[in-house]
Amino acid sequence: MAPPSRPVPNPRIVFTKRPGNGFPVVGEHISLDNTRSIDLERVLLNGGFLTKTLLLSPEPAMRERMRDPEIRSYTTTAIVGAPLVGFGLVVVLRSEKDGIKAGDHMFGMTPFEAYTLQPYIEGRVEYKESEWPAGTFDMDSLALQVVPDPQGAFPWSRYCSILGIPGLSAFAGFEAYANAQEGETIFVSSGASGVGSMVIQLAKMKGMKVIASAGTNKKVEHMKRLGADVAFNYNMSAVSDFLREHGPLDLFWDNVGGSTLEAAIEHLTVYGRIIMCGSASEYNIGLEDRHGIKNTSYIFKKRLTVQGFLIADHAAKMAPRFFSEVPALVAQGKLVSEEHLVHGIENGPAAFVDMLKGGRALGKPVIVVAEE
Ligand SMILES: NC(=O)c1ccc[n+]([C@@H]2O[C@H](COP(=O)([O-])OP(=O)(O)OC[C@H]3O[C@@H](n4cnc5c(N)ncnc54)[C@H](OP(=O)(O)O)[C@@H]3O)[C@@H](O)[C@H]2O)c1
Repeated sequence: MAPPSRPVPNPRIVFTKRPGNGFPVVGEHISLDNTRSIDLERVLLNGGFLTKTLLLSPEPAMRERMRDPEIRSYTTTAIVGAPLVGFGLVVVLRSEKDGIKAGDHMFGMTPFEAYTLQPYIEGRVEYKESEWPAGTFDMDSLALQVVPDPQGAFPWSRYCSILGIPGLSAFAGFEAYANAQEGETIFVSSGASGVGSMVIQLAKMKGMKVIASAGTNKKVEHMKRLGADVAFNYNMSAVSDFLREHGPLDLFWDNVGGSTLEAAIEHLTVYGRIIMCGSASEYNIGLEDRHGIKNTSYIFKKRLTVQGFLIADHAAKMAPRFFSEVPALVAQGKLVSEEHLVHGIENGPAAFVDMLKGGRALGKPVIVVAEE
């Protein structure tokens, strides 16, 4: 006999309107939708599996998907009316899929809602259909994958930071392009971000001198604890002055773009390298308001190398090595990370916007949707 119907609320964070050039506004562009429910016992799985969301990871790349569909980029655009889609940790409640069983924990792309019938299709991220296909990208490498239980060696939230896309991006980009040499100097912008904090640690492992910047004094202290030799608050010290004093730079890992990139170009040495990982200072402003970089002629004068980087191109190849090496280093405390936990999916929209505005709190933001 079928179990009695007992629907439970299934709140979700919905993309309600494209924000144009500005920051998304909670209640206008992203909203909590409390109208849905789901019957966890009776919902038909159709060969798939049912998951309960534990943690969600608001990330800058999600902002790019909110753009106008007319604007070309490296992913498809988010669908208005559908939940946000990003990375998360889920636990399987029921399954009809081979290789996936109730109780499994999985990490990967998932909609921002409490419960999901997987695999999730509506509004999901696609790279293959974008106008700038990534070529080597394999969507399955970012789909939900079963992850091992850390058994208390580290909290599950590490899967959203150092063991998630920020950590993997840093690891893959550094491995592919840094060509790090002992004694060289690297500058890491947004060094307290999920990506930046991993880059600082990887660079120190290679014996580099690390200069790092962030927007609060607390983050400066954190970057020093991660191993940065010198770190500064860009709201209190001019980037260019600081780099003049502590450079020149052999390598610049850029998460920020704009005036920070301009300052780094000025202080890179001849044959210096730039890894462009992101440009957080530009995601929420229109072209006309961006900082125009005035010293690009240094690129030829100093014979600089500028390497753009997208994790999508590297995930399939690098993920197996990353997951075989990095969790053990995290468990041993040789690689560390901080997460800023925001409790409750109802606080998710604000956490997402805070992250885009530069997050005053220390650590990679993580939304705790449910405890085990
Ligand atoms: N290329 C790729 O494949 C790839 C993959 C993952 C991430 N990324 C990029 O890597 C960067 C870090 O990502 P994450 O997930 O690690 O981020 P995160 O932990 O959420 O941190 C983002 C940080 O960016 C800084 N920021 C935000 N807005 C800014 C602004 N207007 N000006 C200057 N700094 C600003 C803030 O720190 P401060 O205190 O330093 O201001 C903020 O805490 C982002 O640019 C992201 O797009 C790229």
